[in-house]
Amino acid sequence: MNLKDLYIDFFISKGHKQIPSAPVVPENDPSVLFNTAGMQPLIPYLMGENHPYGTRLCDYQKCIRTNDLDEVGDTTHHTFFEMLGNWSLGDYFKEESIEWSFEFLTKHLNIPIDKLAVTVFAGNEDIPFDEVSYNKWLELGINKKRIAKTVEDNFWIAGTTGPCGGDTEIFYFRSDDEIPETFDPEDNRWVEIWNNVFMQYNKNSDGTICELPKKNVDTGMGVERTTAILEGVNDNYESSVWKDIINLISNISGIKYEDNKKSMRIIADHIRTAVFISADPSSIKPSNTDQGYILRRLIRRAIRHAKKLNIDTSSDWEQQIAQIILNKYSKYYNELITNKDIVLEVLKNEKIKFNRTLEKGLKEFEKITKNITDNKLNKDLAFKLYDTYGFPIELTVELANELNIQVDIEGFKEKFKAHQELSRIGAEQKFKGGLAGNSEIETKYHTATHLLNAALKVVVNKDVHQKGSNITPDRMRFDFSCDHKLTDEEKSKVENLVNTWIKAELPVTKEQMKKEDAIKSGAECMFIEKYPDIVTVYRIGDVSKELCGGPHVSNTKELGYFQIKKEEASSAGVRRIKAILNSDN
Ligand code: ALA
Repeated sequence: MNLKDLYIDFFISKGHKQIPSAPVVPENDPSVLFNTAGMQPLIPYLMGENHPYGTRLCDYQKCIRTNDLDEVGDTTHHTFFEMLGNWSLGDYFKEESIEWSFEFLTKHLNIPIDKLAVTVFAGNEDIPFDEVSYNKWLELGINKKRIAKTVEDNFWIAGTTGPCGGDTEIFYFRSDDEIPETFDPEDNRWVEIWNNVFMQYNKNSDGTICELPKKNVDTGMGVERTTAILEGVNDNYESSVWKDIINLISNISGIKYEDNKKSMRIIADHIRTAVFISADPSSIKPSNTDQGYILRRLIRRAIRHAKKLNIDTSSDWEQQIAQIILNKYSKYYNELITNKDIVLEVLKNEKIKFNRTLEKGLKEFEKITKNITDNKLNKDLAFKLYDTYGFPIELTVELANELNIQVDIEGFKEKFKAHQELSRIGAEQKFKGGLAGNSEIETKYHTATHLLNAALKVVVNKDVHQKGSNITPDRMRFDFSCDHKLTDEEKSKVENLVNTWIKAELPVTKEQMKKEDAIKSGAECMFIEKYPDIVTVYRIGDVSKELCGGPHVSNTKELGYFQIKKEEASSAGVRRIKAILNSDN
């Protein structure tokens, strides 16, 4: 049986509820591009909110870490990975958590106790030595010499602020050497497989630490690493997680894995991550900013390495690789089924785009580097490769590194910024995904959008639904289903109703609930399939209830005066309203 299934079954047998993996792009946290740990979507609950599934949870969470993207190509680094996790939200604590981890590893994964070692928190001036965990490990039969105490490596926090706590980490001896009697966490034959964090503190932005309302447990175990260990391979890419993907790349290229492991690993890893990003409900597309840029970099780097393997990059090679990944994971992640066509199209389009310039860009790169005498590639040439040939700067750096040439990255960044500034001026301000801006005025427009949606239902027809939305700091635009041009009377009624609600000083509140409950309660929602199983519902007094990621103002009185500027056709059966908020009325 698959590790994920074994894990979930085990924790369900211990009273846990399985929660669905959250999307890879966090829904209410603009501070990070991707979820990097299983606990990230659970932060509000670790901070004290009640979770609709209860106090014992488990899942496998899709995670993406791009901080060491350049390391991908070795035996262990992946940009996308799956993290197994079990949580106690103020329920069980250290003893049960440790006992169950031990039971799962030794009884269900059948790992001999002699191959295991652990670390526990040694204590510092703020937090005492974790005696409970230490004694529990001893009681379970772990030899004293296999329990190491550390400070830095036994305290876990995602980033710099938020829920945190001491942890105990479990290590496995991955080597055929004789197992040393005493465990040394610095000895890299011991690899960490599971981290149990006892989240009882919160770190504030001023660096102080205070107790959380409840004592929680947050654990994380990497699927890729643990699978490799269980299957006895030292190279993750030789485990069942990757083997079929690598074999396919080897078949397509006609090259043996042994002959270019690095390029094959990069292609396998990057295409897998690109599949998960483009299947995500956040509808990310390759672009030059944020998640879209990461997606673009991954696909373009994979294409470059496909070229290194002499793959005909204009063939459907990437479709074949994506297909095997889609098939492999669709049992676990439904969006891979529903968004399959989107994924394949994203990859194909980006491939076509990059293929148009890659060849010429590589020739240009060769020409440029031939003339370099001081091993330095200047900012203008780096920018030309980016602007004319679509080379992400990281790709230029990677190519240059192979020739021992240094790229003026800082200079490139300055030029890039100046260029962005230029293209911004005069261009219409566009915000990705319609409602993605977060300034104060955009937040107000966001709330006004909900009011307008509700007012149209009252005035025009209860079957009016949102079809799209776009907000800039200067105005809001709202598309909705409607079979006729609004009359002047309808427009002024809508305008008046929105302003009445604004003047009524209605509170804006949010609540998290299961998607099915939200729909049952009649909450408005534009693309139901875009939302995860747990959703945020925003209410405005009792006039509006919508599934939404926010942000919103907390009271309608903050909005000012609402005014419709234009009503026009958008497409067949869809009308468009442009409106503004005036603060001085
Ligand atoms: N959140 C912990 C980790 O990512 C379990 O290691």
